[in-house]
Amino acid sequence: MSAMSDDRFVLDDSLAIRLAEEFGTPLYVVSEEAFRSRLRRYRKAFSAAYPATRLSYASKANSILAVLRIAHDEGFDIDVASEGELRAALLAGVPASDCHLHGNAKTEREIDFALEQGIGEILVDNFRELDRLAARNLGATKLMLRLAPGVDPKTHRAISTGQADTKFGFNIADGSAEKAVEICFEKRLPLHGFHCHVGSQLLDPEAQRAGGAQIASFAIEMEQKHGFVAELLNVGGGLGVRYLADYQPMQVDEYCQLIVDAVLSHLGDRRPTLAQEPGRSMIAEAGVTLYRVEVIKEVPTMRGRKRYVVVDGGLSDNPRSAMYEAKYEVRSINGAGGPATCTISGKHCETDTLFADIDLPGDLKEGHLIQVLCTGAYNASMASNYNRYPRPACVLIGLDGEPMLIQRRENWDEVFSSQVLPD
Ligand SMILES: Cc1ncc(COP(=O)(O)O)c(C=O)c1O
Repeated sequence: MSAMSDDRFVLDDSLAIRLAEEFGTPLYVVSEEAFRSRLRRYRKAFSAAYPATRLSYASKANSILAVLRIAHDEGFDIDVASEGELRAALLAGVPASDCHLHGNAKTEREIDFALEQGIGEILVDNFRELDRLAARNLGATKLMLRLAPGVDPKTHRAISTGQADTKFGFNIADGSAEKAVEICFEKRLPLHGFHCHVGSQLLDPEAQRAGGAQIASFAIEMEQKHGFVAELLNVGGGLGVRYLADYQPMQVDEYCQLIVDAVLSHLGDRRPTLAQEPGRSMIAEAGVTLYRVEVIKEVPTMRGRKRYVVVDGGLSDNPRSAMYEAKYEVRSINGAGGPATCTISGKHCETDTLFADIDLPGDLKEGHLIQVLCTGAYNASMASNYNRYPRPACVLIGLDGEPMLIQRRENWDEVFSSQVLPD
């Protein structure tokens, strides 16, 4: 297996200083060039491996409107997992027919809204949803069944979704998935095919290969038993990225080939359309976050002293460290002295260690800037207002190298706009 070359986006120092002055920190920065080139590479790789393919961008990774517009412009449909994400796609100018709706607890309201808009597909997760859909006029919307293939990926437990006891989808092993197919038949629902997503940040493709093989075998079984011919098989997203320089995600072309081979090897002479919906691998490496160092503090420990570099953001703009013990690579913009190991901490009322055991120049000072690589995915989209911090701004570095504001920093009116103070 060959690894992807390290072409993560990194801001050069002079631009970083300019952006911090102009837009403030913490600041998300996304490179349009790096994002588009990943979208194109994936499309090229998938269609080189198989003639009938469809790609969607998983908007949960980053649903800033300008980002969605670029993904659609590059020929990706938009995968949404809530009414809010669907609204984001619509506001970005993406027609609902180019979106599909996920979600393991879709409300009546979400389903109705998606159908009113004319959503392309709904990925059905459970029997209750199937009942709700059967009671509605689906128009041109097609249905896909999300399957739990019973595959356990090697990734953090919070982003494992394909194992047999997952909350997502219809279990194949206990017969639920087959039952769902039967219901679609009985109720004449427009079943289009099957979906699975085994997990995220996959550096070992084995689970993805197994997931693809499982849904293909299931599709053939349903054809033999019920005469249902799947037109579309969607194997989800999941390809990992290089959070640290020594992470070795698979090359996209090898990865797509592996998935296609895994599916085809169980399909006999059937040739349905194959789909994927990557998120992280499209945008994580195309983004960085800029922080300013607020405080440097040394504290005594049992074995010596610990150096804290405390930045002006933290848990509220990047919850991944706290949620998944996620690791990142951090670079200083200023400072050039020999390295000193430090703990980069946030400013929240938690021990919100952002990044532990990081080597930064020993002469790094309060007021200096640092950039954290590979933060384009699951940072802006997971940001919160914890401790009442406004969500950060995001700047897109356009193809001409010029920065464009694509998300303003929240202002105080927005932070408090939902509050109702009783008399
Ligand atoms: C159903 C589904 N599809 C696609 C994705 C995107 O995964 P990734 O960002 O790892 O490519 C996810 C992520 O959670 C998901 O749940």
